[in-house]
Amino acid sequence: MGHSVESIEKEYLKIQKAVEFSLKRIRRGYGKERILRDLRRFNKKLRLKNPILNEEDIFEIARNRIKAREKFGKLAARLFFDEDGLRYSTPPSVAEYRAKRLKTNSIADVSCGSGAQLIYFARESEKAIGVELDKKRAYLAKLNLMAMGEDAEIIVGDALSDEIARQIDAEIVFSDPSRPPQEKVRTLENLEPPPEKVIERYSKITSKIAFELPPQLPPERIPIEGEKEYTSLNFRLNRLALYCNELAECEVSAISIPSMERVTNETEEIQPEPNGIKDFLHEVDFTVIKAGLLPNLLGKLDLHASIVIDDGKRVVLSSNTRSSSSFVRDYRVEEICSFNFSEINDKLKKLGAGKITLRFSLPPSEYWNVRNKLESGLDGKEWFYLFRKCDGEEDKAIIATPLD
Ligand SMILES: C[S@@+](CC[C@H](N)C(=O)[O-])C[C@H]1O[C@@H](n2cnc3c(N)ncnc32)[C@H](O)[C@@H]1O
Repeated sequence: MGHSVESIEKEYLKIQKAVEFSLKRIRRGYGKERILRDLRRFNKKLRLKNPILNEEDIFEIARNRIKAREKFGKLAARLFFDEDGLRYSTPPSVAEYRAKRLKTNSIADVSCGSGAQLIYFARESEKAIGVELDKKRAYLAKLNLMAMGEDAEIIVGDALSDEIARQIDAEIVFSDPSRPPQEKVRTLENLEPPPEKVIERYSKITSKIAFELPPQLPPERIPIEGEKEYTSLNFRLNRLALYCNELAECEVSAISIPSMERVTNETEEIQPEPNGIKDFLHEVDFTVIKAGLLPNLLGKLDLHASIVIDDGKRVVLSSNTRSSSSFVRDYRVEEICSFNFSEINDKLKKLGAGKITLRFSLPPSEYWNVRNKLESGLDGKEWFYLFRKCDGEEDKAIIATPLD
């Protein structure tokens, strides 16, 4: 049954203290059992007897503060996550972008998790509401909003139920459903709540509905109409948003965060040319490839380039000009030779190399073995990147220098 999370303001400071207490002990290397014992005593002194979070939960939050640093940087020290909540959470720069794009008078995040996205909805829009099925996670969302000085109503319950849907009055409905962690082929039906059901339930109150979907889905596997926006964070495919009805600006787009560079299916296309390694390599952000927008990106950049490498994970183009786009990393081609360890090593020595970065697919267990062989005897100062062009009979190594 859905109900609002009761006032937790008084509890907030105590929980924060208990989390910091645990964190200190984790950092000192104490074991879990000992920390839990100490924490029980500490909580008694604090008079902390929370009906939703027990000592185990507080320990988990403390442990996740360490893990959260990678995604949340300095903010991690203030935030509250359980294991799954952290894994599901939207990185702050993506959440901020999404909230700006969906800025409105009132927005409901109907599967808000521990609130990483909701914080930014509350910041950008006049009013934000969060719905969360899991009581504990809803409570963490409330704590996270307080930690960030934001306010939103948080409702515990099933967003697809009559009872909850009746309480929601918002101009935009947003849902970032959970996805089963181990799923070979991503489908929409396995998401919770299923997007089609959210549309069915909420299209009576608004047509402005948006989703966060698994980014591995190519546009053609998404049966719901709307703009599919592939989101790149620091040159890596991070998210896929689907904006329905009036929220859509085109059919498919890609956005690069933090630069905010955008490419859409409406940009004039330039098709890649036949093979050929020229003066420069252009490594393309896979986000653009997943979105099927490579010709549009080339059109936008007016770049006439050939595809040199396309191994299903990495696409590298080549041309005689530099590009300027955050969807592309440029390299200057220094040497091309057969992909033969001693030949590559000779070339690297002649170039004055000290280190190399391998830019081709290898099983992780082989990475250092291969790199050590290729770097053997190098005593120069330069750092090069090594690409491998392997198709049909041809197996070539391309030694290149990154250009900022
Ligand atoms: C991917 S997480 C959301 C993460 C969130 N966007 C963030 O940035 O922290 C999805 C959440 O939806 C919740 N959920 C799943 N089905 C739901 C339903 N029917 N109603 C409400 N919440 C639901 C799950 O418990 C989970 O916490």
